[in-house]
Amino acid sequence: MTVTIANSKLSVNDIAKVRGQLLRWYDSYTRDIPWRANEGSIPAPYHIWLSEIMCQQTTVQAVKPYYEKFLQRWPSVHDLANARQEDVMAAWAGLGYYARARNLHKCAKVVAEDLGGVFPATQEQLKKLPGIGDYTAAAIAAIAFNRPATVVDGNVERVVARFFAVEEPLPTVKPKLKALAAQFYNDFTTRPGDLAQSLMDLGAEICIPKAPRCSLCPLQAACQARKQGITKQLPRKIKAKTRPQKYGHIYWITNDQEQVLFHQRPEQGLLGGMLGLPTTDWNEDSTSLTHPEYINIPTPLHIQVQHTFTHFDLKLDLFEATLKAKLPVKDIKLCWLCPMSTGDKLPSVFKKAHKILVSPNKQNLEVAS
Ligand code: ADE
Repeated sequence: MTVTIANSKLSVNDIAKVRGQLLRWYDSYTRDIPWRANEGSIPAPYHIWLSEIMCQQTTVQAVKPYYEKFLQRWPSVHDLANARQEDVMAAWAGLGYYARARNLHKCAKVVAEDLGGVFPATQEQLKKLPGIGDYTAAAIAAIAFNRPATVVDGNVERVVARFFAVEEPLPTVKPKLKALAAQFYNDFTTRPGDLAQSLMDLGAEICIPKAPRCSLCPLQAACQARKQGITKQLPRKIKAKTRPQKYGHIYWITNDQEQVLFHQRPEQGLLGGMLGLPTTDWNEDSTSLTHPEYINIPTPLHIQVQHTFTHFDLKLDLFEATLKAKLPVKDIKLCWLCPMSTGDKLPSVFKKAHKILVSPNKQNLEVAS
């Protein structure tokens, strides 16, 4: 069965055909995703909410171990609500975008304490909860509550841009792509969650950015980009600005009990609320960096850690140091911890430094990236 689509307005018949092709394809393979319910059953809203928050800006592959760890440790929304925030942040370490973890915990508290542990079923009510925006509300409503919803993430945008051969660039074309995607979703009450996940999977597995696997695509016959030979060029993007380069120092400060000084970062700001190592500010001017006044003159290790954040690249030079006197407590949350038990609790940039700094032969290590 093929579908021929002359322009971007689909007929009722076209829509039914596309949905059929997507769902047959979806049913014909199993993608190993731990929050997927078995055929015919609807998954627990807690599981879907957790997975969707984790999947924001993160691939399914990267999310899987975190999802399983969270569910094992906090099997219900009540368990998560009762957890200590620092434990939730530590369990999230490495997944990035740490505001998500703070909001996850806040949201669990609202659901457990104000809503009797029951997630709301509509997009409007879901969007009132911390950390749930348009996309996440639509995904939860469709997948966990079987409600029709227009679920459009980056993968679905790519499928839609190609299917309709939309030439305007991202991000300005987003509303148009959503309106086009809505034709697939509108009023589809039979299997809205599966339809959404079929489009997400298609974008993740077949309609992939650089080398789309069109010969395996259930929508290949009607895909406008394929007909025009422009699949790889779509979706077009407004050229991203180059990231600024920032610099900083990072300090490995030890005491005579083999402990290391760690820093609980302020709630507001980058890596907010996460445990890290003491650092200078991170500046574009590497000559403006000054060592903290509470340490003795540090020893440079001549090792650099590099990390890429969404909005800038960072190079951190590593130093060893000792404290001048007692801990400075004012305005900075510092604590002595055993370095061996902290690695897993750190965000990636500090994990990289930690890995080098705990190594016995760190003096011989080259620049880390
Ligand atoms: N990305 C975000 N949510 C997803 C889901 N439920 N299935 C596949 N990919 C996803």
